[in-house]
Amino acid sequence: MSNPVELKLESASPEKVPTGVLILGAFSDGILPVPAKAVDHASHGKISDLIARGDLEEKAGASMLLQALPGVAADRTLLVSLGKLAEFGDRAYRNALTSSAKMLAETSASDAAVTLVDVEVPGRSPAWRVQEASRLFVDGTYRFDAHYAKPEKKKYERGVHTIALLTSGKVDEELRNAAQRGQAVAEGMALAKDLGNLPGNVCNPSYLAKTALALGKELNFGVEVLEGEDMKKLGMGAALSVGQGSAQPCKFIVMNYEGGQAKGDPVVLIGKGVTFDSGGISLKPGANMDEMKFDMCGAASVFGAMRTAARMKLPIHLVGIIPAAENMPGGNASRPGDVVTSMSGQTIEILNTDAEGRLGLADALTYAERFQPAYVIDIATLTGACVIALGNLTSGLFANDDGLAEMLLQSGQDTGDRAWRLPMFDEYQELLKSNFADMSNIGGRPAGAITAACFLKRFANHFKWAHLDIAGTNAISGDAKGATGRPVPLLTEFLFRHARAAMQEKKIAA
Ligand code: BES
Ligand code: MN
Ligand code: ZN
Repeated sequence: MSNPVELKLESASPEKVPTGVLILGAFSDGILPVPAKAVDHASHGKISDLIARGDLEEKAGASMLLQALPGVAADRTLLVSLGKLAEFGDRAYRNALTSSAKMLAETSASDAAVTLVDVEVPGRSPAWRVQEASRLFVDGTYRFDAHYAKPEKKKYERGVHTIALLTSGKVDEELRNAAQRGQAVAEGMALAKDLGNLPGNVCNPSYLAKTALALGKELNFGVEVLEGEDMKKLGMGAALSVGQGSAQPCKFIVMNYEGGQAKGDPVVLIGKGVTFDSGGISLKPGANMDEMKFDMCGAASVFGAMRTAARMKLPIHLVGIIPAAENMPGGNASRPGDVVTSMSGQTIEILNTDAEGRLGLADALTYAERFQPAYVIDIATLTGACVIALGNLTSGLFANDDGLAEMLLQSGQDTGDRAWRLPMFDEYQELLKSNFADMSNIGGRPAGAITAACFLKRFANHFKWAHLDIAGTNAISGDAKGATGRPVPLLTEFLFRHARAAMQEKKIAA
């Protein structure tokens, strides 16, 4: 829960801006970009001298902190490498932004001015550059300090409070909007990270429900929380079975945002909300089991996307659905071999209680039918197999509609929050065969991410649907352990596109 940061967009000459840190990009070879040229000129060649000496590393994002340059108003200048000119593109631009945001957090400066938005990126517009810079700089201020005792917390109170994005051109409506979007996405990511990082003993299904109610109140959208009894009445036997071994009751959360005039058919986002996944009776091994507190990161990303959409007042109808449960062993827990009836009427043999996420999602997909959605996208930390296939860089994407898949892939590309499509050929369905019910909840080890998606597909026959398996991308292990806020950038970019399309359609109709 980081300090609020003020983000400004200004038209100014970089050398004249009085600020704690001036962030300046330069290629390790090649000519100086416009802002670096201005500072070089003002400081009588300090920047070009440095580069000529070979002091600026070739790796995009490598940086050096220069104290008070003559002729430059800033206290310090952070010179960040953009890599080689010929190799410059999205990745080097983002690396420069991310690493300078990180460096900035380590200085004692309380304000900074960023000139990187004035560096041209091949194939990208100024608005794209501003949105990415805004998002990555605000995201760079994120800290999670909810559980430190007071004195420890102090060290986090340092940090930037004001970030100015500087451009030599004029600041118009489009750029201001892009800066706002970037900041709103970072705020959505911060909410997703906070929820992900909270421990399972705090962030349980009831906590998620309370968070949804508070968010709806803050941002003025409707929230309904279905209790176990309500779920039972609806016939959600699959979703309910996940939480029946836990002392924490299941919740089924429905958020409903209707912005502006455009609206149209809703986009429904469904997030897996398993607040802790012990595996249940099919208990997981002990090593790194703590990381299963991140098993609600799909839900967290839906909260994050709702926040961003509502903050930006997007003129769309957006529904967020969270089947929330804790998967625990216990006297009342599901046993391997149990058969449950889903809300769709299809029966499921639970051959492994650790394949629980798909059970909650199945009933959420059926519930989504009532909204007659334009698109349904579910987001879930669903399978270890997806991590084996794609590692921690790329989310798995499955879809029953090529147009939707394409939009999501493009949204990932535009934000660096990438996904890759995997197949759901009908032949895979045979792996879900059960001797005792309509289907089994597991398909064996081979193609584990695919059979999980094929399972969900059986509940998504009534709309255009996509599934994002984020088991590898939602969190980082090791020293930097924590939630990443992904795939909030991908989802919100998709929503921005959808809003633009809805507005255009309206204009054409009018
Ligand atoms: N939450 C896990 C998937 C997971 C694994 C997420 C690693 C993040 C990191 C999911 O509920 C699960 O346990 N899946 C099983 C399915 C299997 C039993 C068919 C898995 O992937 O092992
Ligand atoms: Mn599991
Ligand atoms: Zn799980």
